[in-house]
Amino acid sequence: MAPDENPLRLGMRRERIAEPCIMVIFGASGDLSRRKLMPALASLSARRLLPPEFTVLGVGRTSWSDEQFRQAMQEAVAEFADRELAAGDQWKAFAGGLMYQCADLGSADVYGELARRLADLDRIRGTGGNRVFYLAMPPSMYAPIIGGLGEAGLGSGPGTGTRIIIEKPFGRDLASAQALNRDVNRVFDESQVYRIDHYLGKETVQNLLVFRFANAFLEPTWNRQFIDHVQISVAEDIGIGDRGGYYEEAGVLRDMFQNHLLQLLCLVAMEAPVAFEADAVRDEKVKVLRAVRSLDAGAHRVHAVRGQYVAGQVLGRPAGAYRDAGGVHPASVTPTYAALKLHVDNWRWQGVPFYLRSGKQLARKTSEISVVYRQVPHLLFGGVARADLVPNVISLRIQPDEGIALSFEAKRPGTSLRMRPVEMDFSYGSAFGLLEMPNAYERLLLDCMLGDSTLFTRRDEVEAAWRVLQPVLDAWDHATEEGLEFYESGTWGPAAADDLLRADGRRWRRM
Ligand code: BG6
Repeated sequence: MAPDENPLRLGMRRERIAEPCIMVIFGASGDLSRRKLMPALASLSARRLLPPEFTVLGVGRTSWSDEQFRQAMQEAVAEFADRELAAGDQWKAFAGGLMYQCADLGSADVYGELARRLADLDRIRGTGGNRVFYLAMPPSMYAPIIGGLGEAGLGSGPGTGTRIIIEKPFGRDLASAQALNRDVNRVFDESQVYRIDHYLGKETVQNLLVFRFANAFLEPTWNRQFIDHVQISVAEDIGIGDRGGYYEEAGVLRDMFQNHLLQLLCLVAMEAPVAFEADAVRDEKVKVLRAVRSLDAGAHRVHAVRGQYVAGQVLGRPAGAYRDAGGVHPASVTPTYAALKLHVDNWRWQGVPFYLRSGKQLARKTSEISVVYRQVPHLLFGGVARADLVPNVISLRIQPDEGIALSFEAKRPGTSLRMRPVEMDFSYGSAFGLLEMPNAYERLLLDCMLGDSTLFTRRDEVEAAWRVLQPVLDAWDHATEEGLEFYESGTWGPAAADDLLRADGRRWRRM
Protein backbone atom coordinates (compact mmCIF):
# COMPACT_ATOMS: atom_id res chain seq x y z
CA MET A 1 0.00 0.00 0.00
CA ALA A 2 1.43 3.41 -0.93
CA PRO A 3 1.97 5.63 2.15
CA ASP A 4 -0.78 8.01 1.08
CA GLU A 5 -3.34 5.26 0.89
CA ASN A 6 -2.85 4.34 4.53
CA PRO A 7 -6.27 4.93 6.10
CA LEU A 8 -4.76 6.06 9.42
CA ARG A 9 -2.73 8.68 7.56
CA LEU A 10 -5.71 9.84 5.53
CA GLY A 11 -7.93 9.97 8.59
CA MET A 12 -5.49 12.18 10.40
CA ARG A 13 -4.62 14.48 7.53
CA ARG A 14 -8.01 15.38 6.14
CA GLU A 15 -9.65 18.49 7.57
CA ARG A 16 -13.27 17.58 7.50
CA ILE A 17 -16.17 20.00 7.45
CA ALA A 18 -19.59 18.99 8.66
CA GLU A 19 -22.73 19.17 6.52
CA PRO A 20 -25.27 21.83 7.54
CA CYS A 21 -27.31 20.53 10.46
CA ILE A 22 -29.22 21.47 13.60
CA MET A 23 -27.83 20.20 16.87
CA VAL A 24 -30.67 19.92 19.35
CA ILE A 25 -29.25 20.00 22.86
CA PHE A 26 -31.62 18.68 25.52
CA GLY A 27 -30.46 20.19 28.78
CA ALA A 28 -28.95 23.25 27.12
CA SER A 29 -28.78 25.31 30.29
CA GLY A 30 -27.05 22.51 32.22
CA ASP A 31 -23.48 22.06 33.28
CA LEU A 32 -22.35 19.80 30.45
CA SER A 33 -23.68 22.14 27.83
CA ARG A 34 -22.06 25.19 29.42
CA ARG A 35 -18.72 23.62 30.31
CA LYS A 36 -18.08 21.30 27.40
CA LEU A 37 -20.51 21.41 24.50
CA MET A 38 -20.75 25.14 23.83
CA PRO A 39 -17.00 25.80 24.13
CA ALA A 40 -16.35 22.84 21.80
CA LEU A 41 -18.90 24.01 19.22
CA ALA A 42 -17.68 27.64 19.38
CA SER A 43 -14.14 26.39 18.81
CA LEU A 44 -15.17 24.21 15.84
CA SER A 45 -16.95 27.20 14.39
CA ALA A 46 -13.89 29.45 14.89
CA ARG A 47 -11.75 26.78 13.21
CA ARG A 48 -14.21 26.88 10.28
CA LEU A 49 -15.06 23.20 10.64
CA LEU A 50 -18.78 23.98 10.86
CA PRO A 51 -20.68 25.31 7.88
CA PRO A 52 -22.31 28.78 8.14
CA GLU A 53 -25.74 27.12 8.26
CA PHE A 54 -24.87 25.21 11.46
CA THR A 55 -27.56 25.78 14.07
CA VAL A 56 -27.97 24.88 17.73
CA LEU A 57 -31.44 24.52 19.17
CA GLY A 58 -31.08 24.57 22.93
CA VAL A 59 -33.97 22.91 24.74
CA GLY A 60 -34.55 23.27 28.47
CA ARG A 61 -36.90 24.25 31.26
CA THR A 62 -35.42 27.73 31.76
CA SER A 63 -37.65 30.26 30.12
CA TRP A 64 -35.23 32.05 27.80
CA SER A 65 -35.62 33.87 24.52
CA ASP A 66 -33.11 33.09 21.74
CA GLU A 67 -31.29 36.27 22.72
CA GLN A 68 -31.10 35.34 26.40
CA PHE A 69 -29.82 31.90 25.47
CA ARG A 70 -27.07 33.47 23.34
CA GLN A 71 -26.06 35.69 26.19
CA ALA A 72 -25.94 32.82 28.69
CA MET A 73 -23.88 30.73 26.28
CA GLN A 74 -21.53 33.63 25.60
CA GLU A 75 -20.84 33.83 29.33
CA ALA A 76 -20.32 30.07 29.49
CA VAL A 77 -17.88 30.07 26.57
CA ALA A 78 -16.01 33.04 28.06
CA GLU A 79 -15.68 31.12 31.31
CA PHE A 80 -14.95 27.61 30.11
CA ALA A 81 -13.24 27.77 26.70
CA ASP A 82 -9.45 27.34 26.68
CA ARG A 83 -9.06 30.39 24.46
CA GLU A 84 -10.88 33.60 23.61
CA LEU A 85 -13.91 32.51 21.57
CA ALA A 86 -16.72 34.58 23.05
CA ALA A 87 -16.00 37.88 21.33
CA GLY A 88 -15.65 39.57 17.97
CA ASP A 89 -16.85 38.46 14.56
CA GLN A 90 -16.22 34.79 15.23
CA TRP A 91 -18.61 34.83 18.18
CA LYS A 92 -21.18 36.81 16.18
CA ALA A 93 -21.08 34.29 13.36
CA PHE A 94 -21.53 31.37 15.78
CA ALA A 95 -24.11 33.07 18.01
CA GLY A 96 -26.31 33.88 14.98
CA GLY A 97 -27.05 30.15 14.82
CA LEU A 98 -28.01 29.72 18.49
CA MET A 99 -31.75 29.27 19.07
CA TYR A 100 -33.73 28.24 22.09
CA GLN A 101 -36.93 26.41 22.88
CA CYS A 102 -38.36 26.30 26.38
CA ALA A 103 -39.97 22.92 26.99
CA ASP A 104 -41.09 20.59 29.72
CA LEU A 105 -39.64 17.41 28.27
CA GLY A 106 -41.81 15.20 30.44
CA SER A 107 -44.91 16.35 28.55
CA ALA A 108 -45.80 14.55 25.33
CA ASP A 109 -47.06 17.68 23.51
CA VAL A 110 -43.70 19.39 23.34
CA TYR A 111 -42.31 17.01 20.73
CA GLY A 112 -44.87 18.06 18.12
CA GLU A 113 -43.92 21.68 18.79
CA LEU A 114 -40.28 20.75 18.53
CA ALA A 115 -40.88 19.09 15.16
CA ARG A 116 -42.55 22.28 13.88
CA ARG A 117 -39.73 24.47 15.17
CA LEU A 118 -37.15 22.23 13.51
CA ALA A 119 -39.00 22.36 10.21
CA ASP A 120 -39.09 26.18 10.43
CA LEU A 121 -35.40 26.32 11.23
CA ASP A 122 -34.57 24.00 8.33
CA ARG A 123 -36.31 26.46 6.04
CA ILE A 124 -34.73 29.59 7.52
CA ARG A 125 -31.24 28.24 8.10
CA GLY A 126 -30.93 25.81 5.17
CA THR A 127 -30.07 22.82 7.34
CA GLY A 128 -31.75 20.33 5.02
CA GLY A 129 -33.40 18.16 7.67
CA ASN A 130 -30.07 16.99 9.16
CA ARG A 131 -30.32 16.74 12.95
CA VAL A 132 -28.16 15.67 15.83
CA PHE A 133 -30.06 15.19 19.08
CA TYR A 134 -27.82 15.48 22.13
CA LEU A 135 -29.11 14.07 25.42
CA ALA A 136 -27.27 16.20 27.99
CA MET A 137 -29.84 15.36 30.67
CA PRO A 138 -30.10 13.11 33.71
CA PRO A 139 -30.44 9.50 32.48
CA SER A 140 -33.97 9.24 33.88
CA MET A 141 -35.01 11.54 31.02
CA TYR A 142 -33.45 9.46 28.23
CA ALA A 143 -36.37 7.10 27.68
CA PRO A 144 -39.13 9.79 27.74
CA ILE A 145 -37.20 12.00 25.31
CA ILE A 146 -36.40 9.16 22.93
CA GLY A 147 -40.04 8.02 23.07
CA GLY A 148 -41.23 11.59 22.44
CA LEU A 149 -38.92 11.99 19.45
CA GLY A 150 -40.21 8.72 18.04
CA GLU A 151 -43.87 9.72 18.49
CA ALA A 152 -43.24 13.02 16.71
CA GLY A 153 -41.60 11.20 13.80
CA LEU A 154 -38.24 12.78 14.55
CA GLY A 155 -36.30 9.52 14.67
CA SER A 156 -36.49 9.16 10.88
CA GLY A 157 -34.20 6.37 9.78
CA PRO A 158 -30.73 5.39 8.65
CA GLY A 159 -29.26 7.53 5.92
CA THR A 160 -31.50 10.48 6.73
CA GLY A 161 -28.89 12.63 8.46
CA THR A 162 -30.58 12.23 11.86
CA ARG A 163 -28.35 11.12 14.72
CA ILE A 164 -28.55 10.94 18.49
CA ILE A 165 -25.72 11.38 20.99
CA ILE A 166 -26.22 9.75 24.38
CA GLU A 167 -24.11 10.72 27.36
CA LYS A 168 -22.94 8.41 30.06
CA PRO A 169 -23.99 6.82 32.31
CA PHE A 170 -25.57 4.48 29.78
CA GLY A 171 -27.71 2.52 32.22
CA ARG A 172 -26.70 1.63 35.77
CA ASP A 173 -26.19 -2.08 35.20
CA LEU A 174 -26.45 -4.66 32.45
CA ALA A 175 -30.23 -5.00 32.62
CA SER A 176 -30.94 -1.26 32.50
CA ALA A 177 -28.40 -0.76 29.69
CA GLN A 178 -30.13 -3.49 27.69
CA ALA A 179 -33.52 -1.89 28.34
CA LEU A 180 -32.21 1.52 27.29
CA ASN A 181 -30.70 0.02 24.15
CA ARG A 182 -34.08 -1.47 23.30
CA ASP A 183 -35.77 1.92 23.82
CA VAL A 184 -33.19 3.66 21.69
CA ASN A 185 -33.25 1.12 18.90
CA ARG A 186 -37.05 1.21 18.73
CA VAL A 187 -36.74 4.79 17.47
CA PHE A 188 -33.22 5.00 16.03
CA ASP A 189 -31.31 2.57 13.90
CA GLU A 190 -28.00 1.58 15.55
CA SER A 191 -26.13 3.46 12.79
CA GLN A 192 -27.75 6.69 14.05
CA VAL A 193 -26.74 6.17 17.69
CA TYR A 194 -23.58 7.75 19.14
CA ARG A 195 -22.87 6.70 22.74
CA ILE A 196 -20.24 9.13 23.84
CA ASP A 197 -17.20 8.40 26.01
CA HIS A 198 -15.02 11.48 26.09
CA TYR A 199 -11.90 9.41 26.77
CA LEU A 200 -12.07 8.17 23.19
CA GLY A 201 -11.86 11.79 22.01
CA LYS A 202 -8.59 12.38 23.81
CA GLU A 203 -5.64 12.65 21.42
CA THR A 204 -3.46 10.38 23.50
CA VAL A 205 -6.09 7.68 23.59
CA GLN A 206 -6.41 7.78 19.81
CA ASN A 207 -2.65 7.76 19.59
CA LEU A 208 -2.65 4.41 21.31
CA LEU A 209 -4.04 2.91 18.12
CA VAL A 210 -1.50 4.75 16.00
CA PHE A 211 1.33 3.71 18.32
CA ARG A 212 0.27 0.09 18.18
CA PHE A 213 -0.75 -0.24 14.56
CA ALA A 214 1.42 2.23 12.65
CA ASN A 215 4.73 1.00 14.09
CA ALA A 216 6.26 -2.32 13.14
CA PHE A 217 8.60 -2.77 16.09
CA LEU A 218 5.89 -3.14 18.71
CA GLU A 219 3.61 -5.88 17.50
CA PRO A 220 6.00 -8.85 17.80
CA THR A 221 6.40 -8.24 21.55
CA TRP A 222 2.88 -7.07 22.38
CA ASN A 223 1.74 -10.38 23.84
CA ARG A 224 2.03 -12.89 26.66
CA GLN A 225 5.45 -14.05 25.54
CA PHE A 226 7.06 -10.72 26.32
CA ILE A 227 4.67 -8.79 28.54
CA ASP A 228 4.48 -9.52 32.24
CA HIS A 229 1.49 -7.37 33.08
CA VAL A 230 -0.32 -4.12 32.25
CA GLN A 231 -1.33 -1.33 34.62
CA ILE A 232 -4.04 1.21 33.80
CA SER A 233 -4.25 4.04 36.32
CA VAL A 234 -6.62 6.99 36.19
CA ALA A 235 -6.02 9.14 39.25
CA GLU A 236 -7.96 12.30 40.00
CA ASP A 237 -7.09 14.96 42.54
CA ILE A 238 -10.63 16.35 42.67
CA GLY A 239 -13.42 14.95 44.82
CA ILE A 240 -17.02 14.66 43.77
CA GLY A 241 -17.70 18.40 44.08
CA ASP A 242 -21.41 19.15 44.03
CA ARG A 243 -22.31 15.87 42.31
CA GLY A 244 -23.03 14.01 45.55
CA GLY A 245 -26.52 12.93 44.49
CA TYR A 246 -25.27 11.45 41.24
CA TYR A 247 -22.15 9.90 42.72
CA GLU A 248 -23.96 8.16 45.56
CA GLU A 249 -25.89 6.25 42.90
CA ALA A 250 -22.91 5.69 40.66
CA GLY A 251 -19.68 5.11 42.58
CA VAL A 252 -16.35 4.73 40.88
CA LEU A 253 -17.14 1.57 38.92
CA ARG A 254 -20.06 3.13 37.08
CA ASP A 255 -18.48 6.56 36.85
CA MET A 256 -15.03 5.58 35.55
CA PHE A 257 -14.55 1.84 34.97
CA GLN A 258 -17.57 0.81 32.94
CA ASN A 259 -16.63 3.39 30.33
CA HIS A 260 -13.21 5.05 30.45
CA LEU A 261 -11.01 2.38 32.00
CA LEU A 262 -12.51 -0.53 30.09
CA GLN A 263 -12.15 1.47 26.88
CA LEU A 264 -8.46 1.92 27.62
CA LEU A 265 -8.17 -1.80 28.31
CA CYS A 266 -9.79 -2.55 24.95
CA LEU A 267 -7.41 -0.31 23.04
CA VAL A 268 -4.35 -1.84 24.69
CA ALA A 269 -5.50 -5.42 24.29
CA MET A 270 -7.42 -5.52 20.98
CA GLU A 271 -6.22 -7.22 17.82
CA ALA A 272 -5.52 -5.11 14.74
CA PRO A 273 -8.86 -4.32 13.09
CA VAL A 274 -9.24 -5.16 9.40
CA ALA A 275 -9.69 -1.44 8.68
CA PHE A 276 -9.75 1.80 10.62
CA GLU A 277 -13.52 1.92 10.37
CA ALA A 278 -16.23 2.11 12.96
CA ASP A 279 -17.46 -1.45 12.93
CA ALA A 280 -14.09 -3.06 12.35
CA VAL A 281 -12.57 -1.24 15.35
CA ARG A 282 -15.57 -1.89 17.55
CA ASP A 283 -15.71 -5.57 16.61
CA GLU A 284 -12.21 -5.98 18.01
CA LYS A 285 -13.00 -4.06 21.20
CA VAL A 286 -16.05 -6.21 21.85
CA LYS A 287 -13.92 -9.35 21.47
CA VAL A 288 -11.63 -8.10 24.23
CA LEU A 289 -14.53 -7.42 26.58
CA ARG A 290 -16.01 -10.82 25.85
CA ALA A 291 -12.67 -12.43 26.69
CA VAL A 292 -12.37 -10.79 30.10
CA ARG A 293 -12.56 -13.53 32.71
CA SER A 294 -15.62 -13.21 34.88
CA LEU A 295 -15.17 -11.93 38.41
CA ASP A 296 -18.10 -13.94 39.70
CA ALA A 297 -18.11 -16.84 42.15
CA GLY A 298 -16.31 -14.75 44.72
CA ALA A 299 -13.37 -13.82 42.45
CA HIS A 300 -14.11 -10.15 43.14
CA ARG A 301 -13.17 -10.73 46.77
CA VAL A 302 -9.58 -11.43 45.83
CA HIS A 303 -9.34 -9.44 42.63
CA ALA A 304 -11.09 -6.20 43.56
CA VAL A 305 -10.45 -3.49 46.14
CA ARG A 306 -12.94 -0.78 47.01
CA GLY A 307 -12.02 2.39 48.85
CA GLN A 308 -13.45 5.68 49.98
CA TYR A 309 -11.61 8.90 50.79
CA VAL A 310 -11.49 10.43 54.22
CA ALA A 311 -10.21 13.92 54.98
CA GLY A 312 -6.62 14.82 54.18
CA GLN A 313 -4.63 17.25 52.09
CA VAL A 314 -4.57 17.30 48.32
CA LEU A 315 -1.74 19.30 46.76
CA GLY A 316 -1.24 21.12 50.03
CA ARG A 317 -4.88 22.08 50.50
CA PRO A 318 -7.23 20.58 53.08
CA ALA A 319 -9.70 18.18 51.49
CA GLY A 320 -12.82 16.88 53.23
CA ALA A 321 -14.11 13.33 53.54
CA TYR A 322 -16.50 11.85 50.98
CA ARG A 323 -19.09 11.27 53.71
CA ASP A 324 -19.08 15.00 54.50
CA ALA A 325 -19.81 16.08 50.92
CA GLY A 326 -23.20 17.54 50.00
CA GLY A 327 -25.79 14.97 48.95
CA VAL A 328 -23.80 12.08 50.48
CA HIS A 329 -25.19 9.86 53.23
CA PRO A 330 -23.07 10.26 56.39
CA ALA A 331 -22.59 6.48 56.56
CA SER A 332 -22.27 5.99 52.80
CA VAL A 333 -20.31 2.95 51.59
CA THR A 334 -20.13 4.16 47.98
CA PRO A 335 -16.64 3.48 46.63
CA THR A 336 -14.66 6.45 45.35
CA TYR A 337 -11.68 4.24 44.55
CA ALA A 338 -11.36 0.82 43.01
CA ALA A 339 -8.57 -1.45 41.91
CA LEU A 340 -9.29 -4.55 39.83
CA LYS A 341 -7.20 -7.38 38.55
CA LEU A 342 -8.56 -8.64 35.24
CA HIS A 343 -7.54 -11.39 32.87
CA VAL A 344 -8.18 -11.41 29.15
CA ASP A 345 -8.61 -15.05 28.25
CA ASN A 346 -7.40 -15.27 24.69
CA TRP A 347 -4.31 -16.42 22.83
CA ARG A 348 -2.51 -13.10 23.05
CA TRP A 349 -3.04 -12.35 26.72
CA GLN A 350 -3.45 -15.64 28.55
CA GLY A 351 -1.75 -15.32 31.93
CA VAL A 352 -1.05 -11.58 31.69
CA PRO A 353 -2.89 -9.68 34.42
CA PHE A 354 -4.35 -6.26 33.73
CA TYR A 355 -4.44 -4.17 36.88
CA LEU A 356 -6.86 -1.24 36.73
CA ARG A 357 -7.22 1.47 39.35
CA SER A 358 -9.00 4.78 39.60
CA GLY A 359 -9.96 7.05 42.43
CA LYS A 360 -10.95 10.50 43.50
CA GLN A 361 -9.06 12.88 45.75
CA LEU A 362 -5.74 11.14 45.18
CA ALA A 363 -2.29 12.72 45.25
CA ARG A 364 -2.63 14.30 41.80
CA LYS A 365 -4.42 14.06 38.49
CA THR A 366 -2.71 11.68 36.16
CA SER A 367 -3.74 8.91 33.79
CA GLU A 368 -1.26 6.40 32.56
CA ILE A 369 -1.05 2.98 30.95
CA SER A 370 2.10 1.02 31.74
CA VAL A 371 3.01 -2.07 29.81
CA VAL A 372 5.58 -3.91 31.88
CA TYR A 373 7.78 -6.41 30.06
CA ARG A 374 9.12 -9.68 31.41
CA GLN A 375 12.63 -10.06 32.65
CA VAL A 376 15.28 -11.19 30.19
CA PRO A 377 15.39 -14.99 30.01
CA HIS A 378 19.03 -15.36 30.99
CA LEU A 379 21.32 -13.22 33.13
CA LEU A 380 24.48 -12.55 31.20
CA PHE A 381 26.25 -10.08 33.40
CA GLY A 382 27.95 -11.69 36.37
CA GLY A 383 27.28 -10.04 39.66
CA VAL A 384 23.93 -8.63 38.54
CA ALA A 385 21.09 -10.30 40.36
CA ARG A 386 17.73 -10.74 38.72
CA ALA A 387 16.17 -8.45 41.31
CA ASP A 388 18.61 -5.68 40.31
CA LEU A 389 17.31 -5.59 36.76
CA VAL A 390 14.34 -3.34 36.21
CA PRO A 391 12.13 -4.70 33.44
CA ASN A 392 11.39 -2.61 30.37
CA VAL A 393 8.25 -0.53 30.64
CA ILE A 394 6.35 1.35 27.99
CA SER A 395 4.30 4.06 29.69
CA LEU A 396 1.64 5.87 27.78
CA ARG A 397 0.82 9.10 29.55
CA ILE A 398 -2.77 9.97 28.72
CA GLN A 399 -2.77 13.18 30.74
CA PRO A 400 -1.21 15.51 31.79
CA ASP A 401 2.29 15.84 30.28
CA GLU A 402 1.01 13.67 27.43
CA GLY A 403 3.57 11.36 25.89
CA ILE A 404 5.15 7.93 25.74
CA ALA A 405 8.22 6.71 27.59
CA LEU A 406 10.27 3.57 27.18
CA SER A 407 12.45 2.60 30.09
CA PHE A 408 15.37 0.26 29.64
CA GLU A 409 18.59 -0.72 31.34
CA ALA A 410 21.78 1.13 30.46
CA LYS A 411 25.36 0.71 31.51
CA ARG A 412 26.58 3.30 33.94
CA PRO A 413 29.73 4.92 32.59
CA GLY A 414 32.83 3.54 34.26
CA THR A 415 35.14 0.58 34.33
CA SER A 416 32.86 -1.71 36.32
CA LEU A 417 29.69 -3.17 34.87
CA ARG A 418 26.86 -1.47 36.65
CA MET A 419 23.46 -0.68 35.27
CA ARG A 420 20.65 1.76 35.76
CA PRO A 421 17.23 2.10 34.17
CA VAL A 422 16.98 5.13 31.85
CA GLU A 423 14.13 6.53 29.74
CA MET A 424 13.49 7.46 26.15
CA ASP A 425 10.72 9.96 26.33
CA PHE A 426 8.41 11.36 23.67
CA SER A 427 6.41 14.35 24.74
CA TYR A 428 3.48 15.62 22.71
CA GLY A 429 4.10 19.19 23.79
CA SER A 430 7.65 19.42 22.54
CA ALA A 431 7.30 17.10 19.52
CA PHE A 432 4.32 18.94 18.10
CA GLY A 433 4.77 22.37 19.71
CA LEU A 434 1.44 22.09 21.50
CA LEU A 435 0.58 24.19 24.51
CA GLU A 436 -2.88 22.66 24.93
CA MET A 437 -4.12 19.28 23.77
CA PRO A 438 -7.12 19.45 21.44
CA ASN A 439 -10.43 19.15 23.22
CA ALA A 440 -12.04 15.70 23.23
CA TYR A 441 -15.58 17.00 22.78
CA GLU A 442 -14.60 18.97 19.68
CA ARG A 443 -13.34 15.86 18.01
CA LEU A 444 -16.33 13.75 19.01
CA LEU A 445 -19.01 16.29 18.10
CA LEU A 446 -17.43 16.80 14.72
CA ASP A 447 -17.12 13.05 14.12
CA CYS A 448 -20.78 12.61 14.89
CA MET A 449 -21.79 15.37 12.49
CA LEU A 450 -19.61 13.69 9.87
CA GLY A 451 -21.29 10.35 10.52
CA ASP A 452 -18.13 8.67 11.82
CA SER A 453 -18.89 6.50 14.84
CA THR A 454 -15.44 4.90 15.22
CA LEU A 455 -14.85 6.70 18.53
CA PHE A 456 -18.30 5.96 19.93
CA THR A 457 -19.50 2.89 21.77
CA ARG A 458 -21.68 0.36 20.01
CA ARG A 459 -24.67 -1.39 21.57
CA ASP A 460 -23.00 -4.75 22.10
CA GLU A 461 -19.87 -3.05 23.38
CA VAL A 462 -21.65 -1.13 26.12
CA GLU A 463 -23.47 -4.28 27.18
CA ALA A 464 -20.25 -6.31 27.17
CA ALA A 465 -18.62 -3.69 29.41
CA TRP A 466 -21.48 -3.92 31.90
CA ARG A 467 -21.24 -7.69 31.80
CA VAL A 468 -17.58 -7.49 32.89
CA LEU A 469 -18.43 -5.41 35.95
CA GLN A 470 -21.80 -6.85 36.87
CA PRO A 471 -20.56 -9.43 39.43
CA VAL A 472 -18.55 -6.75 41.25
CA LEU A 473 -21.45 -4.29 41.12
CA ASP A 474 -23.81 -6.92 42.49
CA ALA A 475 -21.47 -7.57 45.38
CA TRP A 476 -20.62 -3.96 46.10
CA ASP A 477 -24.15 -2.60 45.79
CA HIS A 478 -25.13 -4.81 48.69
CA ALA A 479 -21.91 -4.52 50.66
CA THR A 480 -21.57 -3.11 54.14
CA GLU A 481 -18.68 -1.14 55.51
CA GLU A 482 -16.76 -4.36 56.00
CA GLY A 483 -14.10 -4.54 53.35
CA LEU A 484 -14.38 -0.87 52.42
CA GLU A 485 -10.87 0.56 52.61
CA PHE A 486 -10.73 4.15 53.77
CA TYR A 487 -7.83 6.15 52.31
CA GLU A 488 -6.60 9.54 53.24
CA SER A 489 -7.22 12.24 50.64
CA GLY A 490 -4.03 13.20 48.84
CA THR A 491 -2.48 9.72 48.99
CA TRP A 492 -2.39 7.10 46.22
CA GLY A 493 -5.31 5.15 47.64
CA PRO A 494 -5.72 2.30 50.11
CA ALA A 495 -2.91 -0.02 51.08
CA ALA A 496 -5.10 -2.96 50.04
CA ALA A 497 -4.58 -1.90 46.43
CA ASP A 498 -0.83 -2.28 46.93
CA ASP A 499 -1.43 -5.68 48.48
CA LEU A 500 -3.38 -6.74 45.39
CA LEU A 501 -0.18 -6.46 43.35
CA ARG A 502 2.19 -7.46 46.12
CA ALA A 503 0.44 -10.81 46.34
CA ASP A 504 1.60 -11.37 42.74
CA GLY A 505 5.12 -10.12 43.43
CA ARG A 506 4.45 -6.84 41.63
CA ARG A 507 3.81 -3.23 42.55
CA TRP A 508 2.10 -0.18 41.15
CA ARG A 509 4.30 2.11 39.15
CA ARG A 510 5.07 5.42 40.78
CA MET A 511 3.26 8.21 38.92
C1 BG6 B 1 -16.27 11.79 33.91
C2 BG6 B 1 -16.65 11.41 35.32
O1 BG6 B 1 -16.81 10.89 32.99
O2 BG6 B 1 -14.87 11.79 33.77
C3 BG6 B 1 -16.01 12.35 36.32
O3 BG6 B 1 -18.05 11.46 35.47
C4 BG6 B 1 -14.51 12.42 36.08
O4 BG6 B 1 -16.28 11.94 37.64
C5 BG6 B 1 -14.20 12.71 34.63
O5 BG6 B 1 -14.00 13.46 36.91
C6 BG6 B 1 -12.71 12.59 34.35
O6 BG6 B 1 -12.45 13.05 33.06
P1 BG6 B 1 -11.05 13.70 32.70
O7 BG6 B 1 -11.15 14.02 31.25
O8 BG6 B 1 -10.89 14.91 33.58
O9 BG6 B 1 -10.03 12.66 33.01
